[in-house]
Amino acid sequence: RKFLIINGPNLNRLGKREPGIYGAKALDDLKNELKVLAEELLMSISFRQSNSEGDIIDFIHEAAGLYTGIILNAGAYTHYSYAIRDAIASVDVPVIEVHLSNVHAREEFRHKSVIAKETIGQISGFGFDSYKLALQAFNSQIRGNTV
Ligand code: DQA
Repeated sequence: RKFLIINGPNLNRLGKREPGIYGAKALDDLKNELKVLAEELLMSISFRQSNSEGDIIDFIHEAAGLYTGIILNAGAYTHYSYAIRDAIASVDVPVIEVHLSNVHAREEFRHKSVIAKETIGQISGFGFDSYKLALQAFNSQIRGNTV
């Protein structure tokens, strides 16, 4: 069982980008921490990052039939990309939406996620832990511990 972690626009700038909001650690640090957790949980993970909406849509399409789940931080596309929402709806792979920051405690435009309806859930506000909690949620699901 393989899980795909997709990071969208500006997340390649983690560590340099608004560190007061997104933290001082880089995207590579996130990957390393998630790899450690995945090993502990005996899960297999891969990573993709792109600043382009079309690439993110392609990553989602390509995951069909290959991955058991997707952890997606679509960045600002979360708030307005109907195309990413439709891409999620077009595949049979469950998606967990994650955000480093608590989007609901920030500007009004971040309160709305147009992709949320197509996901199995959203985790927002826990920094790197948002991704780790998502991985744990998938782990729990594959073990049948659904609520
Ligand atoms: C983000 C929140 C979005 O509103 C923002 O545009 C991002 C990052 C987060 O992880 O907190 O790029 O998805």
